[in-house]
This record gives sequence, C-alpha cells and structure tokens, in this order.
Amino acid sequence: GAESIMAQEEYKMLSDKLFKYKGTVLALDYNHDITPGYIDSIRDFKTRDDDVFVVTFPKSGTVWTQRIMTLIYQEDFPEKAKQITYDQMPWIEYREKNTDYNLRSSPRLFCSHLVEPLMPRALQGKGKVIYVMRNPKDVMVSYFHFSNKMKNLDSSESYDELLEKFFRGEMIGGCWFDHVKGWMTNRDKYDILFLTYEEMIKDLRSVVVKICEFVGKSLSDAAIDEVVQKTTFNHMKEDPLANYEHLPETITDVSKGVFLRKGTIGDWKNSITVAQNERFDHHYEKLMKGVNLNMVWDMK
Ligand code: A3P
Repeated sequence: GAESIMAQEEYKMLSDKLFKYKGTVLALDYNHDITPGYIDSIRDFKTRDDDVFVVTFPKSGTVWTQRIMTLIYQEDFPEKAKQITYDQMPWIEYREKNTDYNLRSSPRLFCSHLVEPLMPRALQGKGKVIYVMRNPKDVMVSYFHFSNKMKNLDSSESYDELLEKFFRGEMIGGCWFDHVKGWMTNRDKYDILFLTYEEMIKDLRSVVVKICEFVGKSLSDAAIDEVVQKTTFNHMKEDPLANYEHLPETITDVSKGVFLRKGTIGDWKNSITVAQNERFDHHYEKLMKGVNLNMVWDMK
C-alpha cells in the first residue's frame, strides 16, 4: 500500500554497510534486529516515569555518559549484570534479537543516537532525556578514526571525503545539524537535561552532581567521588569493555587504535586544514542560523 511505498522511499542504502531511514543512519548488523519496522515501532514504545534515555549524536561522549549513568545506578543492578555496561544500558535502536525491552525491570536506562522525531512519543511526559553534545569539529575528527577502525562502518580516506558525508548526513546518526536542531527546538516537550562533552572535560564532578540531581539520585560525596574516579579518561582507558575490546574482530580492527582515543577538546585543530575548517564554518553558519546553542565550544 501507500504506506509501504513511503517507507521504501524513506529507506536508502548509502553503501553496503550503512542505510538511511527517516533521518537516521544505521549500520547493517545481523546480530541486531534493525529493520525499518522495528525503528518505527520505537515511536510506540511505552516509556515509564523512571526511564532515562541518554541521547547523543555519535562521538559526542555517549559511552562516557553511559558509564557515568550505570555507576550512579549501580545499586539498582544485580551483581551479575554489573560486568557489562551495554547490558545495563542498551541502545534502544540496536535491539538484540529475541529481547523485549518492555520486559526490563525499572529503572530502565537506554542510550540512543536517534533524531527527535523517531523517539518514543510517550517520552513526552513519561521519562527523562539527557542530551549530550560536542563541538561538531571534534565529533567529525573522532568519527574519522572510529569509522576507520570499525569494519561495519564506511571509512574515509581523507577529511575532504568525510566532510562531505558530514554535511550530507551520511554517517551513523544521520546529520549532526538536524540532530542537534531537532532536540534543541523540541526541548520544551521533554524533561531534558542538556550537557556538553566540553563541560564534562572541564569539570566532571559538577556534571555528575548535575546528573544525580536531574534523575533524583542522592549519592554521598564519597559515592560521587567514586563515580568521578572511575570515569576519568585514564581509568576508562584501562577498561576493556569501555574500549570496545569485547567486540569480535569481524567488527573492530584492534590494530587501528582504541575507542578511548584522545579524549580532548579541540583535536580538530591538529587534524583539518585551514581550507577544510573554513568550509566547515561556512556550513555551520548557514545551517545553525538562529539556533542558540549557548556556545560552550570554541569553533575558531
Ligand atoms: P576521541 O575520539 O576524540 O578521543 P562516543 O562514546 O559518543 O562514541 O564518543 C567517543 C569519544 O568520547 C572519543 O573521543 C572518546 O575518546 C571520548 N571519551 C570516552 N570516554 C571518555 C572519558 N572518560 N573522558 C574523555 N573522553 C572520553
């Protein structure tokens, strides 16, 4: 019928690895049940008041925030589950086969890279969102290395090549500009906390405190210190799970660096040329006109 034709038009293979669907881009992945039908069903997912979704554009500090969240909630998880962060806080769009998120016990934590129009409608009223963003130039540089390491993503030979993909939204998560704008302009519909990677770098402890207040968790000072200590770059770098070392070699190429690569602000300055940077600024100014991000990052 008309609807399935619509769905077909909204589904586009970008390569033999990535597909675009309704403003998001996902990797084909045979361990997960990623189909347009499943993505559509997320719209009707029944959220609960104590659900928390950490939403990001990829490479903005997702795994970092995920780790912080699972430590804040550690008393809520049974001992066995504590080993694997992913099991405590899965991506809503990457559902493992034969799992049903409706059966998870509360409090439920999720990650997501979805654009705002694809998120559960019920989240507008039930549940909370933590949206983490990062200087898009650093996002692009981080993605450059990540996509060259991950065998299930399209790598780029040069930043010129990746810049075009970044502007066209042909990378995991879709278009950075649409992602950030969608969540910013619809913020009033949600119980939402905006965070930036940059403020996490500058003052991790205050961000942990802010998150605790937002989700209504009262941790002792010592417990907060422990969360901070366990989520520093150096500490997480030693954690094989945080470094995605649990993924099979069919997906990651361990010879091409680790997931916790640099963890700094402004690495774009070492990575792209003046001309590439000017092109970026040009697009940024055009696409982000009128969006007040309360800029915490240095674009120059
Ligand atoms: P770099 O590639 O710039 O080093 P995501 O989880 O959204 O994919 O983001 C990955 C980025 O977050 C990587 O950036 C990674 O190093 C950084 N990161 C992960 N954990 C971090 C931590 N504890 N402190 C600082 N940066 C961290």
